[in-house]
Amino acid sequence: MTTPVTVRPVTAQIENSIRTIGGISTTDLAKQFDTPLYIMDVATVRNNCRHYTDSLKALNVDYTVAYAGKAGMCFKLLNLLAEEGLGTDVVSGGEIHTVLQTNIDRDKIYFHGNNKSKKELEMAIEAGIRIVIDNAYELQLIDSITKETGKQAQLLIRLKPEIEAHTHEHIQTGQIESKFGVSKAELIPMIQTILDAPNLQFLGIHGHIGSQIFDPIPYEKLAHLMMDYLIKIKQDTQAPVLELNLGGGIGIPYIEADKPPVVSDVITQMVTILKDGCAQANIPLPRIIVEPGRSIVATAGATLYSAGALKSIPVKSGTLNYVFVDGGMADNLRYALYKSEYTFEVANKADHPATTQYTIAGKFCESGDKLGENIPLPQVESGDLVLVYGTGAYNYAMASHYNLFPYLAMVGIEDGVADLWIERETYEDLNTHFKK
Ligand SMILES: Cc1ncc(COP(=O)(O)O)c(C=O)c1O
Repeated sequence: MTTPVTVRPVTAQIENSIRTIGGISTTDLAKQFDTPLYIMDVATVRNNCRHYTDSLKALNVDYTVAYAGKAGMCFKLLNLLAEEGLGTDVVSGGEIHTVLQTNIDRDKIYFHGNNKSKKELEMAIEAGIRIVIDNAYELQLIDSITKETGKQAQLLIRLKPEIEAHTHEHIQTGQIESKFGVSKAELIPMIQTILDAPNLQFLGIHGHIGSQIFDPIPYEKLAHLMMDYLIKIKQDTQAPVLELNLGGGIGIPYIEADKPPVVSDVITQMVTILKDGCAQANIPLPRIIVEPGRSIVATAGATLYSAGALKSIPVKSGTLNYVFVDGGMADNLRYALYKSEYTFEVANKADHPATTQYTIAGKFCESGDKLGENIPLPQVESGDLVLVYGTGAYNYAMASHYNLFPYLAMVGIEDGVADLWIERETYEDLNTHFKK
């Protein structure tokens, strides 16, 4: 049984006005691990995985849920996902190197990217990782590597679905002008090239329409489009399509007003279209692959900061109240990048009523270094703990060393036990590669 997705981790509770996650109080976490700190609630990660695996199991199809590692990866998280039966999609040599050191099943790894280097492709082919081809140049590179090494390459082709998905333009990926994927006209000739090469194995096709998507209709359109291609591939090439990768992108609630679709509804809708279409066309249903990133980890994560200096500035409309936290755009770039909204809380006053509107700003040397504006909170005092929800995806993964700020620690919490997933960087770590 899964629990519906909410802004806060599924284990979030309040005890004596203090927020607890996974059975541990945030004040204890701050004492033990210091702030700023990424917190990951293991029960929420498991719950989010099961939204996918349970619905695919119930549909009685062959499937792989490949976590989109770009949302954020480390060994402990990947091993947790492996326990839940998930695979991973990877987009760089660094991610391949990392995933290969975990229990993730190699048959469930998909290598993406619009400009994979020869070295990265060699790594993937050597490890037997499936490659999702983005363009003709890449196919040539893969062909030459397999000729040099005598190794086989297992290939899918990323199609540009040309489906409008209403989300921020930076995270739309399926439209014609997108840098990702091959056009519809290129698909069949590319499959033919693969079929003609003895070391290349054609496994299937891939389509991804974007990220943080709330509308289920584009997914329905994607399933119909992919069905049309299954038929076209059969007609034009006779090649069996063994795998059909439908990408990721299902949205999550960052604030209470966000109403993303229910994962099992989207999955059921797409798979039903494909099952019916395949039955009608007399085509075996390929293995269904989905690649969720954000919807697996975002709501499991929260970032715990300490409030430091406060500033109240008289402005035309009243007073602008700043809370400065001990992190900011280096550990969470998303507000500076796309004004993404978050839910905030004063973790040591979790049930106090909100009285004041705040701008939560970081400590970095950019005026745009903010995490949120017009945020209603109880009166904040220096030393209070500020908790930001929904930071489990694309936060650690997009972190930077701006102002030579060390990367934060991350703890995974389950049943009252806090496990250090990522150690906090030290100042020495920051200088490791600097030559004197
Ligand atoms: C090919 C591909 N698959 C999966 C994802 C994961 O998207 P999300 O984290 O929104 O689920 C992305 C991200 O944009 C992607 O480009």
